[in-house]
Amino acid sequence: MNAFSFQNNNLYAESLPVSDLINSYGSPLYIYSKSQIEFNWNLFKKSVGGHPHLICYAVKANSNLAVLNILANLGSGFDIVSLGELKRVIAAGGDPRKCVFSGVAKSEYSIRKALEYGIYCFNVESEDELDRIELVASTMNMSAPISIRVNPNVDANTHPYIATGLSENKFGVGADIALSMYKKANISDYLEVCGLDYHIGSQITDVSPFLEALDRALELIDKLKSENILIKHLDIGGGVGVSYDQEKTINIQDYLNSVTTKVDNMKILVEPGRSIVADAGIFVTKVEYLKQNEIKSFAIVDGAMNDLIRPSLYESFHQAVLIDDNAKGITDTWDIVGPVCETADFLAKDRKLTLEKGDYIAIMTAGAYGFVLSSNYNSRPRVPEIMVCGKSHTLVRKRETIESLFENETFYIDETNK
Ligand code: LLP
Repeated sequence: MNAFSFQNNNLYAESLPVSDLINSYGSPLYIYSKSQIEFNWNLFKKSVGGHPHLICYAVKANSNLAVLNILANLGSGFDIVSLGELKRVIAAGGDPRKCVFSGVAKSEYSIRKALEYGIYCFNVESEDELDRIELVASTMNMSAPISIRVNPNVDANTHPYIATGLSENKFGVGADIALSMYKKANISDYLEVCGLDYHIGSQITDVSPFLEALDRALELIDKLKSENILIKHLDIGGGVGVSYDQEKTINIQDYLNSVTTKVDNMKILVEPGRSIVADAGIFVTKVEYLKQNEIKSFAIVDGAMNDLIRPSLYESFHQAVLIDDNAKGITDTWDIVGPVCETADFLAKDRKLTLEKGDYIAIMTAGAYGFVLSSNYNSRPRVPEIMVCGKSHTLVRKRETIESLFENETFYIDETNK
């Protein structure tokens, strides 16, 4: 399915012209497709088939309550990395008992709250963390469900900032440490060994690192078995890449088929984020000015790196298309840049487009790690988010007001003069 497509040269979000949404909500804005989110999640569901499983959507990819609510209604579980994300899931109607808690720095308070809410499992990332979970659980006289996040030391062939499965990365522990952690947990009254997990990185477009990590995890699970430590679920993480520029990526059905064939007697957990929401969202921005010099042509737009930081942070590519594709104006190779005072403030570089002032450009495949990474840099209010389904649409987060940006601030009060 393709939620965003051209009809008579106009970009549509499902059955709605994007221009109608701009008329209602202004620019810039994010637009999401409910049907695409459901389609993407159902593809995971279909692909694991009859094998016992839990799909834990990685909340960090897009944590808007409407997105979480759509997934909760499908029966999704969630991968969370903070108490904030857990509370969002609950507020959106999600089930805390279907949540796995990842992240390298879980606070004592967040562990306590997660235990109170009865989460499915902690994905434990260090020996210190295991001790802390045991201690908190003991004060509550509970047994905390745990899985050790193993770092399989495989190269995911992705941008270094989003690779997590190498020993040089801060995530998880090596197999030897994992083994001793499992031994310790197995004899604790306050820890319950449930699973084993790994997550080797994000935007991975080749299946082989995933299969390599799987093999290493299965080896360790066998070793644990010989020590009478039984692993009930295997969590294979997220990381499935999407196509930003028509590049080939992983076939989810084939990948999960390989996993289910190799994994016996264990529930499979998977933590997809990007592959559920990326192509279900676009970011729309207006051309304010055109500026050309001897070597460069700039289309200066009203959206910026504070709204969508992926191009600046990872030099990532997103397609940029005109929402009204009736070519008018100046044909050139444009850098699409924003109002923020940073040279790194660009949404796209070297794009051949025919542009005039007042045009609207859609930055495609922006549903994952778009709005969630936005900030108020340069005192820019965050933009609205709209959810579309068929011909209907809902404002699922309103545009921030400028006043709200400084409502928590105050002047310095000189106590010495009081
Ligand atoms: N599980 C864990 C433990 C994770 O750390 C992540 C993502 C996921 C699952 C979901 O991975 P996905 O299926 O979305 O690839 N901001 C970066 C991506 C950071 C990914 C962080 N971890 C970007 O915009 O490319």
